[in-house]
Amino acid sequence: MEKIIVHGGQPLQGTLRVQGSKNASLPILAACVLADGVCEIENCPDLSDVRAAVRILQHLGCTVSRRDNHLTVDSRRVSCYNIPDTLMHEMRSSIVFLGSVLARTGKATLCAPGGCEIGRRPIDLHLQSLRALGAEIREENATLTCETPRGLCGARITLRFPSVGATENVLLAAATARGDTVLHNAAREPEIEDLVAFLNACGAKIETTGAGTLLIHGVQRLHGCRHRVIPDRIAALSYMAAVGAAGGDVVLQDVQTKHILSVNRVFLQAGCRLETDAHTLRITSSGRLRSVRDIRTLPHPGFPTDAQAAVMAMLCTADGTSVIEETIFENRFHHVHALRRMGAQIRISDRKAIIHGVSRLHGAAVTAVDLRAGAALIIAALGAAGTSVIGGLHHIDRGYEKIEACLQTLGAQIERSADSGRQQSKQNQPVRRLPIR
Ligand code: EPZ
Repeated sequence: MEKIIVHGGQPLQGTLRVQGSKNASLPILAACVLADGVCEIENCPDLSDVRAAVRILQHLGCTVSRRDNHLTVDSRRVSCYNIPDTLMHEMRSSIVFLGSVLARTGKATLCAPGGCEIGRRPIDLHLQSLRALGAEIREENATLTCETPRGLCGARITLRFPSVGATENVLLAAATARGDTVLHNAAREPEIEDLVAFLNACGAKIETTGAGTLLIHGVQRLHGCRHRVIPDRIAALSYMAAVGAAGGDVVLQDVQTKHILSVNRVFLQAGCRLETDAHTLRITSSGRLRSVRDIRTLPHPGFPTDAQAAVMAMLCTADGTSVIEETIFENRFHHVHALRRMGAQIRISDRKAIIHGVSRLHGAAVTAVDLRAGAALIIAALGAAGTSVIGGLHHIDRGYEKIEACLQTLGAQIERSADSGRQQSKQNQPVRRLPIR
C-alpha cells in the first residue's frame, strides 16, 4: 500500500500553480452527455474522480481523450442510458449523470451512489426536483429507473436546502426541457457558476436572477464548446493552510481570489499575511498562529465545509482555543482521531470541534479516511516535529493532483512510497530532496 511520508518542520517557500477544480470538472463532464457534439475542456485535473467520470462517459458511448489537462469529449454517439453499479459506486457525484442522461436519452437506470464517510448524503432533493420536471422515477432494491414519458418540462422548484448536487441535476435536466424552469434557493458555489458558463457556451440559456435564483429557458439541443475549468478553491485553501501550519512564504498562481474571500478572514485572524490580486495570492506565516473562535461551515458564500479539516489541522498549534462548527455534513470530523494521535487537543461537542492549541504536533502513522481529512493530515504533518506516515492515499488522490510533487516544489520534505516500514525506520534521519515529478 502506498504511503506519504512527511518529515515535518520545514517552512514552505516558492510558487505553485493551483490545479483546476475537481468539483467543477465533474458536473461539466456529466454535462458533456447533453451536448450533441465535441467539448474541449481545459484545466481539467487528472484525478481518480475525474477518471471515474470519464469511465462513465465512455460507458455511455462518448469518446474521450486527454492531452495533459485538456480533455476532448465527443458525445455524438451516446447510446446507453444505464450506468452499472460498479461505476456509480466509484464516486458520490456520479449522481449528477442522472439529469444529463435523462435529458439526452429520455431514460436512465442507475443505482443511488450510496452514503460515504462524511454522512448519510441523501438524494431526495435531486429526485423531488427531477420529478417536478416530469421524470417518473421508481426506486427498487437501490436501483433508480427513470423515464420521461411526456418529455421534461420546465417547472418552478424551491430547494429546501441549497444542495450543490441537486442544483446541478436541475440545471442539467432543465437546460433542454420544454419551457422555463425557475429554481429558488439554488446553490451559489463557484462550481455552479462554472457549470452555468459551460452550459451557456454549449447553447443553453441560463440566467442568474438574484441571490440563489436560476432561470433556465429550455432550448432544443446543446452543441459542443471549448471551456476552461475554474481553479480549485479548496486545493488553494489546503495549500494556504499548509503554509499556515508549517510557516513560510508562498505565492499561489491561478487562484480566483473572489472565490475564497470568506476564508481569508480566518487566515488573517490567525495571523497569516495575505496579498492578493484577482488571480494570485501570496501567503506568509511565521508558523506561530492565533486561535480563531467562530468558524461555522455554511453554503457559499459562507465558510466551505471542504476547507474545514484543513483549517482545523492548521489551528491545532494556534495559541488559544479555536472553535469550528460543521453545519453541512453530520459526520465530518473523522480527521480528529488522527490529529489527536499527532498530539492535537481537540474535543468534539455535538457538531462543534473545540481545539486547544498545543505548541507543536509530533509525527505519527495515521490513515486518511476521506479526501479532505487526508489533506488535513498532510498539513498537520508538515508543521509537526519528526516524521509522519500517512496511508489511505486513494482518498487524497480523488481530489489533489500530485499533492506530494506540489508540496516538494515548495520545499516540503515529502515523498510517496510503497514501502512504509522501511521509511518509518528512517525517522529523524536527514532526507534526500526528491526530484519534482
Ligand atoms: C458537493 O457535494 C461537493 N461535491 C462536496 O465536496 C461538498 O462538500 C458539498 O457539495 C458541499 O459544498 C462535489 O461537488 C462533487 P450537497 P454534494 O448536495 O453535492 C444534504 C469534496 O470534498 N442533502 O450540497 O453531495 C446533504 O446531506 C466533496 O470535494 C440532502 O439532504 O453536497 C448535506 O447535508 C465532499 N438531500 C447537504 O445537503 C439531498 O438530496 C449538502 O449536500 C442532497 C443533499
